[in-house]
Amino acid sequence: MGEKSISGFSKLSKRGKLKWIAENFFKDPEAVIRELKSYWLTNEDQQRVMDGFSENTISNFHLPYGVAPNMIINDKTYCIPMVIEESSVVAAASSAAKFWMNRGGFKTEVISTVKIGQVHFYWDGDSSKMIPLFNKYKERFKQDVKDITANMDKRGGGIIDVNLKDFTDIEPNYYQVEIKFDTCDSMGANFINSVLERVASLMKDYFAREKTFTAKEKEIDIVMSILSNYTPECLVRASVSCPIEDLGMFGEMDAETFANKFNRAVRIAHIDPYRATTHNKGIFNGIDAVVLATGNDFRAIEACGHTYASRDGQYKSLSNCELKDGIFKFWLDIPLAIGTVGGLTNIHPIAKTSLELLGNPGSNELMQVIAATGLAQNFAALKSLVTVGIQKGHMKMHLMNILNHQEATKKEIEASVLHFKDHVVSFSAVRTFLDELRTTSSGNKPFAIAGTND
Ligand code: HMG
Repeated sequence: MGEKSISGFSKLSKRGKLKWIAENFFKDPEAVIRELKSYWLTNEDQQRVMDGFSENTISNFHLPYGVAPNMIINDKTYCIPMVIEESSVVAAASSAAKFWMNRGGFKTEVISTVKIGQVHFYWDGDSSKMIPLFNKYKERFKQDVKDITANMDKRGGGIIDVNLKDFTDIEPNYYQVEIKFDTCDSMGANFINSVLERVASLMKDYFAREKTFTAKEKEIDIVMSILSNYTPECLVRASVSCPIEDLGMFGEMDAETFANKFNRAVRIAHIDPYRATTHNKGIFNGIDAVVLATGNDFRAIEACGHTYASRDGQYKSLSNCELKDGIFKFWLDIPLAIGTVGGLTNIHPIAKTSLELLGNPGSNELMQVIAATGLAQNFAALKSLVTVGIQKGHMKMHLMNILNHQEATKKEIEASVLHFKDHVVSFSAVRTFLDELRTTSSGNKPFAIAGTND
């Protein structure tokens, strides 16, 4: 075992883990223990709940929790909870919400809510014998998993369809059972995986008993049973539109010029994967922030979104723009397999608060809120990109981070905020400004305020 390795770490108490980490990886163990402990919640019950989300926890890692007000979606006004570490994202979503507030707001619709799970298996036999039998098995599966699906069935969900997929032309003996599910208000991962594992064991049983199979055909090699995070049929659309002239002026730029440039920016993201990746990252700035704030699985959402963006064989923009008959239309189609019950959504204290802030939506409504926030984010980023450029707004919001990094005092922060109202923010510009300031005055200790985040 290496110098800093340990067996049985997982069995240590939380304090024991922290002590071992501090003593083995840090120059000043006492200081690091103090620091990491300072982020423990004072409410011990809540801390226990947090620790239960993951493993080997030694502290909590904080992220900012912000809100974007004035988001009108299907004529209802929302205040959107957003958890994100990147400056200017929440401001951008808020500014797009405000922009569209007086132009009809966001329109959204859930197109479909189907989720998918797969049992992957290899089988060496005569497929012309097995494929017709599978139709008989399909109905038996549904009956034989009733004990798992009964509650979901009662809620109006459950198994929608079961299909056999034959991949033997690509990979000898490889088949899939693909099951489609409706998981109602839950993301449904545990439910889907439980059904799949049962189906896998039922298949072994059915195949072993199948009288028409040879001894070799009675054997089936189940490789794995798992949901797919690619859910192209769990799809939501968010859109905004207005007469081009109602877009207004953007500094010196008129509405027509803006609409054309904006449309081209979206076209470019359909043509070039390098641009599409950044464009879609902007969309996920908004989507991930709400997904996190509501205790949903952002890795699943991201993985799915990027696969969907490649569905035509090339990675492209998830959003679309159209200028037709004098109307500007901008929309986003995105698969979002999220839940408002189960998982962390009801256990994480702030995820619960986020859902309450949104009026305790069901999963369909939350899909629409998330998609609208993604579109808002994309609109704000493109609006900046085709007008003043991204740096002006982004760096304006980033100013406080730079000032904190430079250990600016309260007075220096106030002076900097005033100065950079009409000067371009950059790391070096801020340092130069502070250097000049510090030659004429002196500060005390670092302190963040500034009419922005104080
Ligand atoms: P601005 O025009 O300077 O803002 O824009 P403003 O001071 O005139 O205020 C207008 C509204 O913006 C405010 O209304 C707020 O809604 C919001 P009000 O509250 O006054 O009634 N707003 C703020 N909200 C909270 N805190 C603030 C704040 N300031 C304004 N401090 C803004 C400034 C940042 C909004 C604008 O420049 C913008 O939208 N920029 C885009 C920023 C962005 O997209 N950031 C994401 C990070 S960059 C990235 O990762 C994505 C990207 O690469 C994607 C891509 O390439 O497509 C860009």
